[in-house]
Amino acid sequence: MTAAAILRIGSLKDVGGFQDHLRALDLKIPCDLQLLTGAQSPLRRPLERGPFKIGNRIAVQPMEGWDATPDGAPSENTVRRWQRFGGSGGKLIWGGEAVAVSHEGRANPNQLLASPRTQQGLAHLRTVLVREHILTTGSDDGLVIGLQLTHSGRYSRPNEHTRPEPRILYHHPLLDRRLKLPPDYPLLSDGEIESIIEDFHRAACLAWQRGFDFVDIKHCHGYLGHEFLSAHTRVGRYGGTFEGRTRFLREVVQGIRSLCPGLHIGVRLSAIDTVPFQSDPSHSVIGRSSTGVAETRPDLIPYRWGFGVNPLDPTDSDLSEPVRFLSLLEELQIQLVNITAGSPYYNPHIQRPALYPPSDGYLPPEDPLVGVARQMEATRQLKQRFPNLLLVGSGYTYLQDFLPNVAQAAVREGWVDFVGLGRMVLSYPEFLWEASAGTRIQRKLVCRTFSDCTTAPRNGLPSGCYPLDKYYKESEMAQKLKDAKKR
Ligand SMILES: Cc1cc2nc3c(=O)[nH]c(=O)nc-3n(C[C@H](O)[C@H](O)[C@H](O)COP(=O)(O)O)c2cc1C
Ligand code: SF4
Repeated sequence: MTAAAILRIGSLKDVGGFQDHLRALDLKIPCDLQLLTGAQSPLRRPLERGPFKIGNRIAVQPMEGWDATPDGAPSENTVRRWQRFGGSGGKLIWGGEAVAVSHEGRANPNQLLASPRTQQGLAHLRTVLVREHILTTGSDDGLVIGLQLTHSGRYSRPNEHTRPEPRILYHHPLLDRRLKLPPDYPLLSDGEIESIIEDFHRAACLAWQRGFDFVDIKHCHGYLGHEFLSAHTRVGRYGGTFEGRTRFLREVVQGIRSLCPGLHIGVRLSAIDTVPFQSDPSHSVIGRSSTGVAETRPDLIPYRWGFGVNPLDPTDSDLSEPVRFLSLLEELQIQLVNITAGSPYYNPHIQRPALYPPSDGYLPPEDPLVGVARQMEATRQLKQRFPNLLLVGSGYTYLQDFLPNVAQAAVREGWVDFVGLGRMVLSYPEFLWEASAGTRIQRKLVCRTFSDCTTAPRNGLPSGCYPLDKYYKESEMAQKLKDAKKR
């Protein structure tokens, strides 16, 4: 499939046209014809469960900007982004962005770091967010703010954006080759894992002292927490059986509970996955992406390097282990769960469906609406199985103009508790707040999935919405991005 063959969402005249388009693609995506507003809107309905009182159903997904200072403190750009997160009107702020628990675990040299040196900066991010939130919504009642804690594992690049310094749990037959790792590349030892667990404890206490309501123990997108879940081939305490692969989570949780008892815990999970994808090598043209194809080999079946994938057909997902994982979260009394998919590194089309690939990506192998439907369906099934968990859904941005209609229907029909906004928050933070207020939407701000917010960091530049947000569009960073794209 080429991008040219995919019908542009922006070209559809109205919601009826969009519904017809979904039918033509045979996709099950709920979509309301009429938007309800104010207190009538399902998106404005508060949700109270257990210790949580969350003021509406709009969640802001973690969105990193590659713009912290070298020692991991927020920069002006970071502060502005968090301010906009607050201005979105969303009452559930899921983590703000990935914050590394140690320097070695940073995904890039400009990732935020949780450390005594940066704690005031992190507290400031929270303060500006709350202030802006009150300006938009009138009050901070029901506002719940988390901090996403991460170790980047296989995707660590702490010192130079061009120099990967992977910290891996097992040898992956496909991903090791992509990172050019030799067969004797060292694995993280159990002792090193124990010290990373302590880093999570320290970072969580810091978040707690600085007023965050919860921390997310990130288990998604190919980073360390997620890699534990697929460590079937790792021997020792932290791999092999389901119990071994989830020991990391249990030990992180245990320590947080004893050291900072008032802090809530959430988990962002790549609940479904597939094998790594790549630009089709048989159609490759230097400097141009071709359509994404799955990279797999018959000798890798049954597939033992994934989580949420069918071992006998790893291009397909399988929810049996994710269901077991969510049962474990319930046992651990973790209620906040954010469902996402795959990884931005090895299969971005399932993680952030887009029409235009980032500079190092591939053309969409499917209509991106298929990717949206896949994440929504997995979340729906998990919601049905776990009615008491508070589930956030991901991957809605590609719906563009019709996002409010789908978001309203998804919450109304109980597919999900909170609709999480990722890229749309970079281009148009107030989108769902305005739509659920009955305000006319500003079409020129609707994210069209150009992927510049992914291409920029891949080229060592801060992330942001270069095409639509004037702040980036008119900055010298925009020129640098243009130059980088030409190279
Ligand atoms: C520039 C950029 C930065 C992101 N940063 C994070 C992050 O720090 N943590 C995380 O869990 N997901 C991160 N994501 C993934 C998003 O939270 C979200 O899952 C994804 O963009 C799909 O949602 P959307 O369709 O609303 O954009 C990032 C995505 C983008 C495009
Ligand atoms: S750069 Fe802007 S328009 Fe492009 S995907 Fe990111 S948020 Fe959307």
